[in-house]
Amino acid sequence: MEDSLRKEDPLELAARYLRQRRELGEEELYLSPGLFDSIEKSPQEKSELLKELYDSSRDCTKCGLHEGKTNYVFGTGSASSLVMFIGEAPGREEDLQGEPFVGRAGKLLNRILVAIGLKREEVYIGNILKCRPPENRDPLPEEIEACLPHLYQQIDIIKPRVIVALGRVAAQTLLKTNLPMSKLRGRFYDFNGYPFLVTYHTAALLRNPQFKKPTWEDMKILRRYYDKITGENFKFYDEE
Ligand code: URA
Repeated sequence: MEDSLRKEDPLELAARYLRQRRELGEEELYLSPGLFDSIEKSPQEKSELLKELYDSSRDCTKCGLHEGKTNYVFGTGSASSLVMFIGEAPGREEDLQGEPFVGRAGKLLNRILVAIGLKREEVYIGNILKCRPPENRDPLPEEIEACLPHLYQQIDIIKPRVIVALGRVAAQTLLKTNLPMSKLRGRFYDFNGYPFLVTYHTAALLRNPQFKKPTWEDMKILRRYYDKITGENFKFYDEE
């Protein structure tokens, strides 16, 4: 095949670009707005890949939870979302409706999204587990291990610009730590190259109103970061 017809490896392309800039004596990078277009998948490709992943995983039997489920709760939102929220596992409402965060905790999440100027449809919402644990008990390590590859694949397709862990299970699982939420929340981590922010789960906020203030601080951190990515300048209702 002619060299010019060979599909470029994105990493080779990036390395060549960076080397070239250095050799031209550039100290600072200029990244033109179209630079990533040939590397990244289009919104349509992402949504097709996500649909394929759903179809291939919805009948999963890798752990016992599939036996008691009503619905497989894959995730919801745009496949090209810049922001991805990750909770713990479906509860009763989510199991019945087949969509994450639609019960009381979900309604509170919706209100938080409104407060930071994001629409539910433009973010992606998923969970560590896709089938409901009985009586909403904590996920077992073997359930997490069985289910996590699906979430990793979702992340890999969506490639969000920022991930937000909602609560202890999501944060500790993905960051592979046992640190408590009080130590984990409120700052960014690197999760496989993704900026990763930790905040309280909305179900915890319903039980512990004292978590509302720190959660609002975390959501402001998220929105400021989102503004940096998009060039927007959102005004918080309490800072006008
Ligand atoms: N809690 C979660 O962690 N996920 C849901 O989808 C609903 C409640």
